[in-house]
Amino acid sequence: MRIDIITVLPGLLEGPFSHSILKRAEDKGLASVKVHDLRGYGIGKQKSVDNYAFGGGAGMVMMIEPIAKCIEDLKKERDYDEVIYMTPDGLTFNQAMANSFSLTENLIILCGHYKGVDERVRQHLITKEVSIGDFVLSGGELAAAVVTDAIIRLLPGVLNDETSALTDSFQDGLLAPPVYTRPATYKGWKVPEVLLSGHAANIESWRFDESVRRTKERRPDLMEGDNSLGKGDSTTARNDN
Ligand code: ADE
Repeated sequence: MRIDIITVLPGLLEGPFSHSILKRAEDKGLASVKVHDLRGYGIGKQKSVDNYAFGGGAGMVMMIEPIAKCIEDLKKERDYDEVIYMTPDGLTFNQAMANSFSLTENLIILCGHYKGVDERVRQHLITKEVSIGDFVLSGGELAAAVVTDAIIRLLPGVLNDETSALTDSFQDGLLAPPVYTRPATYKGWKVPEVLLSGHAANIESWRFDESVRRTKERRPDLMEGDNSLGKGDSTTARNDN
């Protein structure tokens, strides 16, 4: 899988992709994340990528030409499944979306800045608009890193224990159950007996009950059946196949 990220702040994305699971995925040849500096497509001597908003008002708007040129260049090299724009007014990202994107081959992610992009970019060049939550970041870069991480960890072979993505919170519409490790007792705080019993069926049943209890308590909305998790064609992670 290949993800091309278009940004005016490429430095902001160096860290997340040179560590941990994302780095391992790249090293194993399972995923490739390329960061493109939009400034390279900037206009004039100043390499401008933004300008004042028509009609006035505070804040700069990202211009269509540099973005269009960058996307065009990428599209000359390969076909893209989606051109995603990170924006707080997009569809809220969730596990079902991560699963769906993990089934694609090539994605472009455009990071917004300033007051956002010229609306014509959204109308004509973007295929999906994604938010990571109801708050405003200073740019789309950190949001793009979040989305990229959530997608790439789902690719088969990226996680050491392939099943661990399947038992994540949200994968079955439930939150994950509590986990414990050594020591079995700390300051008198005990690990639930069943987990030490070695009885696989009882452990599985305890974990399921805990998942349900935790979900009811913390995220009753997930149990109401009107969320997109666990439904539709976009919920199947690659690992399920
Ligand atoms: N850019 C600024 N805020 C954002 C958010 N919440 N999600 C995605 N992109 C953003």
